[in-house]
Amino acid sequence: MAGEDQLFQRFGREFAKGHILFREGEPGGEMFVVQSGKVNITKKVRETEKILATLGAGEFFGEMAILNNKPRSAGAVMAENGKLLVIDPRTFEAMIRGNVEIAVRLIKKLSDRLQEADEQIENLLLKDPASRVVHFLLSSAKRGRDTPQGKLVSLNADELHGRMGLSTEAVQQALDKIAKARIIQLVPEGVVVPDLGKMQKYLEFLEMKERFGDT
Ligand code: CMP
Repeated sequence: MAGEDQLFQRFGREFAKGHILFREGEPGGEMFVVQSGKVNITKKVRETEKILATLGAGEFFGEMAILNNKPRSAGAVMAENGKLLVIDPRTFEAMIRGNVEIAVRLIKKLSDRLQEADEQIENLLLKDPASRVVHFLLSSAKRGRDTPQGKLVSLNADELHGRMGLSTEAVQQALDKIAKARIIQLVPEGVVVPDLGKMQKYLEFLEMKERFGDT
């Protein structure tokens, strides 16, 4: 698209996988829009680094420090090679003031993020790893891509471990257990959830089991 090319010429930069765009707590000087590749938004809790979100083409980040004049609320690192638009605060403000559609998209995205943060809090209150993995997959599947087999969540065990702050083994064990119960199918692209209603019931069953025990 010609418009996108012009934007890239003006604001675009290429970054290699592993490049740290900024760290949590630093002052924020610009916001970013992903044109290609993936970016991990990370937060350090004690000594473990947790991935809050993985953002892809069309998504933006780094706007909070500009809007609220506070230090970066999380870190950002390139998860893949990619192209980003790097936008300074004055241009960002001019874009919002000059285009209601951009402002509305921003508000919708911030609302989605708040909802996801609420889901993460709910997730952290669950105790056993299987419940936490099912809860996370259920929330992700609701936003997932439709495939003939069901909703696809494009995350593997390793990415799930980064997102959930659980060990890789705990995630893998939980995935095997859930797959055995036929609630999910493990496929090369990630995890397929054939039936969201059945998964919701399975989560309720796991919670009951946790509360009342096996007997
Ligand atoms: P800022 O605080 O400037 O720097 C970190 C950025 O990460 C923040 O702006 C948001 O754009 C983004 N961010 C923070 N928390 C989340 C989250 N839970 N999900 C997705 N993006 C987030």
